[in-house]
Amino acid sequence: MRTWRVVLVGFGTVGRGVAERLRASAGELESLGIAPRIVGVLDPRLGSVAAPSGLDPASLLQAAEGEGDLTQVPGALACEGGVAGVREIQADVVFELTPTNLRDGQPGLDHVRAALENGRHVSTTNKGPVALAWPELRDLAAANNVQLRCEGTVMSGTPLLNVCEAGLAGAGVRAVRGILNGTCNYILSRMEEGMAYDDALNEAQRLGYAETDPSGDVEGWDAAAKVAILGNLVLGGSLSLADVERGGIDSVDLDAVQNAVEGGKRLRLVGSVERGESAVTNARVTLEELPQDDPLAAVSGAGNLLTFETDALGAVSVAGPGAGRAETGHALVADLIAIHRAELS
Ligand code: HSE
Repeated sequence: MRTWRVVLVGFGTVGRGVAERLRASAGELESLGIAPRIVGVLDPRLGSVAAPSGLDPASLLQAAEGEGDLTQVPGALACEGGVAGVREIQADVVFELTPTNLRDGQPGLDHVRAALENGRHVSTTNKGPVALAWPELRDLAAANNVQLRCEGTVMSGTPLLNVCEAGLAGAGVRAVRGILNGTCNYILSRMEEGMAYDDALNEAQRLGYAETDPSGDVEGWDAAAKVAILGNLVLGGSLSLADVERGGIDSVDLDAVQNAVEGGKRLRLVGSVERGESAVTNARVTLEELPQDDPLAAVSGAGNLLTFETDALGAVSVAGPGAGRAETGHALVADLIAIHRAELS
């Protein structure tokens, strides 16, 4: 049995989702030889705590939902938060779970840098660092002989990046194309039923699909970040967010959506990226009018679907949830298992 000492940076929706999934999957993890131990939780609002012998996930969840004070958790010792906490707490893995910031990637970017520099493996659900600074972080991880994983950045916990790495290696992936933003797809689907844009956006926010600032969704930034991540991790590129041509749905009107339906088509926000002769190319997010028989046209509501064009297998598609507490929480568990397996090999 291998004990994995884990620090959680951020204990909001995703952090709590991870704590729940670590509890729920404890038996399965044990059968894989993995004993996770939460040795620190750093949160700017709830407090920052450490405990070398481990913090009970149920007590953390109770403290977060109740008083909102993590220092109440049995065995918890108050400690420095942020970068100082990442550096000081002795851990094997850092889960970086702070909200995505696509302007400069902060504070997540500095957390990831500090973790890698101090020899910790990292799993993050934060799109900012990976979409903005992948070449730097990839090289930093390699220089420190640790892994940087980010399954939860695209399609939440739906197996995607880890599946590609393990199962599509050698298959010659040439291109990736998909529905990558659940909020936009939900809004377009509701508008097809006659709902006004603003009402559909309000509904998407209420249901928790949209980011805190929904302009990130409807202007295409979120999908563009995911395209950059796919171009880098699946196709081996060195893209930044600025390399992705970006469109959104913020200026789409009800007539355009309904005219498409009347013409036997569907408007969808599509992300795509290709492997060119010498570089990863044609990275873009565009509002497209798709024929009904395009598999992407069939995706309704907040679902995501991604198709890989491969030399060996033709088209391979993965469909599943793209957001959610348990769904994203699972992505960290999947990354922990991948880190464990890679260490064994
Ligand atoms: N706001 C995102 C979406 C959530 O709607 O897809 C997951 O990145």
